[in-house]
Amino acid sequence: MIRKTTLLWFLLVLAAPVYAQKQLDVQKEFAFAAQQYKRLLDTHPDKSRFPHSTNPDGSLRDKPSEWWCSGFFGGSLWYLYEFTKDEKWKTAADNWTMAMAKEQTNTGTHDLGFMLYCPFGNGYRLTQNPAYRPVLLTGAQSLSTRFDPTIGVIKSWNSLGEYTYPVIIDNMMNLELLFWAARQSGDKRLYNVAISHADSTLKNHFRPDQSSYHVVCYAPGGKVLKRQTHQGAADESAWARGQAWGLYGYTVMYRETKDPKYLAQAQRIADFYLNHPNLPADKVPYWDFNAPNIPNEERDASAAAITAAALLELCTYGGASSQPYYRAAVQMLQSLASPAYKAKLGENNNFLLKHSVGAKPLKSEINVPLVYADYYYLEALLRYDALRKQPAYRL
Ligand code: GLY
Repeated sequence: MIRKTTLLWFLLVLAAPVYAQKQLDVQKEFAFAAQQYKRLLDTHPDKSRFPHSTNPDGSLRDKPSEWWCSGFFGGSLWYLYEFTKDEKWKTAADNWTMAMAKEQTNTGTHDLGFMLYCPFGNGYRLTQNPAYRPVLLTGAQSLSTRFDPTIGVIKSWNSLGEYTYPVIIDNMMNLELLFWAARQSGDKRLYNVAISHADSTLKNHFRPDQSSYHVVCYAPGGKVLKRQTHQGAADESAWARGQAWGLYGYTVMYRETKDPKYLAQAQRIADFYLNHPNLPADKVPYWDFNAPNIPNEERDASAAAITAAALLELCTYGGASSQPYYRAAVQMLQSLASPAYKAKLGENNNFLLKHSVGAKPLKSEINVPLVYADYYYLEALLRYDALRKQPAYRL
């Protein structure tokens, strides 16, 4: 016969994960984010310097509008407005969104999706402000100038070291802007560019275990020249944020096309990430799944935030089999919202999350806040907030 105390312990152990997952209080998280970002706003009266991270000496690291991350701050301000409905966030979001408008004609970067769709796309979704639409349409055309139809992909970097016509997995994130612009303008070419890029990436970027290379270099005509890394531990390693970009990117591909091959790819990437033996129990990965000194390596909160946001969309597409994705995403959010990753008020140069890694092999941005970690954290919180109200997603 089972003793009463044994039974009680057994029930407590069973209930623990469920109980723990209920601790995520979205209201409280946004209240904190509002206080912290009010300080970040106050330290940035000049909208030509965009909050980005922390320097090695602990000082604030700002960037100009042409930096790939400069649209995330405006995007996060829109998420604050979306949750709080407070007009002061709308005004701030509009100001920081319009400060990015000059990048719409920038054809020197593949990152226009990040730079424009995060601020202007969210702004247009929430307000239908007619001033935002032409910026997004022009930005999509600018991005598409980087597509070579004979190779079939959008070029990532113009010239960076040894890379020839490089395409990085991150570039999957810029396709959402093309889909939006194709729908709005009727320009089917933009749609086709996105499909071609995603199909070539599907063919060339993934290893048999479904982890992705960071950089694939192409010859004219589309032949793959090399598969390399730039920010990962090694050419053959699985750079954590790269896996997150791919997961998010193919989830968007499925949303936009309903082609099951993209859903299957997103699920394969999610399964690689979630089942990896080097994924810590709190589900915040090391900066590279194959970093050489695990467990003595930095975690990357940004990879977890992006992954959580992606999983909270992916879990809506696969029926009951997607429940593990939802649970994993909630666990990631819960970890990020804990004191282990979330800053205290007024600390961390007023960013929300600590412990991200920009580019360890380049000795850049190691164990720091990063503005995009905050953006995807807020996005994931909003997605969680919408889902948890539905009976199918009650834990
Ligand atoms: N290259 C964009 C990133 O660091 O994820």
